[in-house]
Amino acid sequence: MNMLKPKHVLTGDGAEVAPLAPNKSTEPTTKIVEAPLAYPRSAEVFRHNRRFIPGGVASVNRAVQPEIVFTKAQGAYIWDLDGNRYIDYHAAFAPHVLGHNDPYVTDAVFSVLKKESSLYGSGTTELEGQLAEVICRHVPAAESVQFLNSGSEATCQAIRLARAITQRDHIIVMQAGYNGWHNDVACNLMTPLDVIGPRLSPGEYPYIPISAGIPLEHQKLVHAVNFNDLQSVEYVCQKYPIAALITEPILQNVGIIKPKAGYLQGLRKLADRYSFVLIFDEVKTGFRHGIGGYGRIAGVMPDLVVFGKAVANGYPIAVLGGKKDMMDWFVHPDSSKRVLLAGTYNAHPVPTAAAIATIDRLLMNGGEVYQKLEQLATSMQNGLEKILAALNL
Ligand SMILES: Cc1ncc(COP(=O)(O)O)c(C=O)c1O
Repeated sequence: MNMLKPKHVLTGDGAEVAPLAPNKSTEPTTKIVEAPLAYPRSAEVFRHNRRFIPGGVASVNRAVQPEIVFTKAQGAYIWDLDGNRYIDYHAAFAPHVLGHNDPYVTDAVFSVLKKESSLYGSGTTELEGQLAEVICRHVPAAESVQFLNSGSEATCQAIRLARAITQRDHIIVMQAGYNGWHNDVACNLMTPLDVIGPRLSPGEYPYIPISAGIPLEHQKLVHAVNFNDLQSVEYVCQKYPIAALITEPILQNVGIIKPKAGYLQGLRKLADRYSFVLIFDEVKTGFRHGIGGYGRIAGVMPDLVVFGKAVANGYPIAVLGGKKDMMDWFVHPDSSKRVLLAGTYNAHPVPTAAAIATIDRLLMNGGEVYQKLEQLATSMQNGLEKILAALNL
């Protein structure tokens, strides 16, 4: 998720973040190559697209300055229409764990297309069964799974499922968490301090929508609390019948806010005490920290878990998994309890094949991809620290 940043924002651990101003007195030791200032061909395309698309782009989160039209991507690099090549640190908000157009994944996609496979719209496929099996085998929190097309669809279904199971309507979300664009969760992300007021603990913040068009009645069902603040979760549980708490196990949409020791375990205990459904939104953490989700690394089992992004290295698919007795509510024998899960494109063969190949590749040679990622991340962190120290920041 990308938002144009307000001047000061309240993050999940209560830290106030202000934009950094460079200290002009110290020259960095690392050579920084200036980015080009003009993108004439990109500007032309934006002008054209704006005539037909509001804002000129298909996801308004991509409406950022400078306006650049990208044409090609491979591995760590992307190219723009004006011929500039970039290292892609942004990486499309997280899917490309193997880099752009990983050949192994691309081959799997081609082979599905060559087999004249299609969206049949009836029955099941061997591919979706294969993907389900491999995920259930490697993700302890997923005893069974369903497939959707985006992270937002999957978090929406997880919350609906939790409400059906608990027969309660209220949910808890994290201040500074992002779980998608739908009414339950499109709130309280980079909330300016003058809007949200002082840190509340134990307590809850007002629902601050990040979209217009969310009914007031709906907003009353959503309670935003600080991340890393078990007391506030308990405070809300004592006031309202809570169906679910949804959180990223590491907040990754306002920079990085890690869970404090014992926090995720504490959420598990509170879920058991107050009988709410604990949902880990692993759309960003999933498959990027290791196979099995961050829940596995932390040793905490949510009731439901959601994956997207890196699971298919950039192809559109999302996964909702969880305890079998909960997931079975999608096929509940009592139709008044059954939760509707439908979608024309769910488990389309192209992203399904991409996901199988991505997981296969991530598992190869004892998970060497993750070792490489650790090395790269460490060298990135060390390099950034050097630059920041040189700039006296
Ligand atoms: C943690 C998290 N959950 C859910 C979503 C929504 O996923 P999508 O954009 O695929 O709908 C995002 C997207 O950035 C995310 O970061």
